[in-house]
Amino acid sequence: MDAISVIRTKRDRGELSGEQIDWVIDAYTRGTVADEQMSSLAMAILLNGMNRTEIARWTAAMIASGERMSFDSLSRPTADKHSTGGVGDKITLPLAPLVAACGAAVPQLSGRGLGHTGGTLDKLESIPGWRALLSNEEMLRVLDSTGAVICAAGDGLAPADKKLYALRDVTGTVEAIPLIASSIMSKKIAEGTGSLVLDVKVGSGAFMKNLEDARELASTMVALGTDSGVRTVALLTDMSTPLGLTAGNALEVRESVEVLAGGGPADVVELTLALAREMLTAAGLPDADPAKALADGSAMDVWRRMISAQGGDPDAELPVAREQHVVTAPASGVLTRLDAYDIGLAAWRLGAGRARKEDPVQAGAGVELHAKPGDTVTEGQPLLTLHTDTPEKFGWALEPLATACDIAPAGTAFTASPIVLD
Ligand code: URA
Repeated sequence: MDAISVIRTKRDRGELSGEQIDWVIDAYTRGTVADEQMSSLAMAILLNGMNRTEIARWTAAMIASGERMSFDSLSRPTADKHSTGGVGDKITLPLAPLVAACGAAVPQLSGRGLGHTGGTLDKLESIPGWRALLSNEEMLRVLDSTGAVICAAGDGLAPADKKLYALRDVTGTVEAIPLIASSIMSKKIAEGTGSLVLDVKVGSGAFMKNLEDARELASTMVALGTDSGVRTVALLTDMSTPLGLTAGNALEVRESVEVLAGGGPADVVELTLALAREMLTAAGLPDADPAKALADGSAMDVWRRMISAQGGDPDAELPVAREQHVVTAPASGVLTRLDAYDIGLAAWRLGAGRARKEDPVQAGAGVELHAKPGDTVTEGQPLLTLHTDTPEKFGWALEPLATACDIAPAGTAFTASPIVLD
């Protein structure tokens, strides 16, 4: 077998055989297939696609590149959630302790932000002392003692995906449905969760810009999970406007704690509860009541124990950026659009995200929203507050914001998109 014949098969719109897929993933993980050959194959896959048989084999080969974890020793059923990524998407933070408070074990292996979308680990690292890197034994210990753990995937889990994802990120090949589906599902299946709820985002701030593509991605992932014995369901949810009122690391932790304290923005609460219900049903706990666990403080108790178990201080002051800049409403009327991608890009430029994997992020940087689509605004009122430690970046961050919002004349009828689209 050789890399060039595999590339030619896909370049010429052929179907890759199981042997070709197993060989190329294994050889790439070991370093015998070069980055430039794999990037050529990834581009051929992006342009010409893969059928369901190829995607299933590709996923199995990525799982086989590393270890498989098992939660069989736990007494509780396991439930995990994966979001395909968005702006202001802090849902994992309140969701994991909430679902744990309702009786499931939540092993939440999470990632860092890249590009305009934020990452759960970067958000939690704004809590003084909190550690994302745990050994497999530590992870199991935290999960067993608190019911939830949020941490980085160990190096042993689907190493082929780690290498391939980094390559796709710099070769314009992230947005291929077969590659996204196999990337996400290889990690989730290898992790060993019994059930999985996928939050597939749709809209300007998501990888999938339209409902049709999101549905295709969701059904591909649900089939991969189900065929591997993981009870898998997917929700398609709106990402045309940021979730909640904050995009940025410490800003989002603060908002998540508000939700756990029984407050927080309505859209964050609604989506957290919707995903919690799906996770609990998939885990075989359909009668659990997540709204009660939010209201009675039991989800907050799990959050505090989970943060402490990973070295964090749940009572510590969260970092605040050194400088703020307020953007005011350019006109009076009804805010009809506040674009998720533009806000995400501004937060990234302010220092909340990174340009390369190894870059640091600013804990306090980001964008705070003072209005959401559907709200009536008055010319000159604060619309956004930008936060950063590097004020020389304000001008750069303001560029995408020039086109981020639409304001219609007062009295214009406006119906907000539902959060859960399907
Ligand atoms: N998240 C992943 O883990 N992989 C992708 O390919 C895209 C989003």
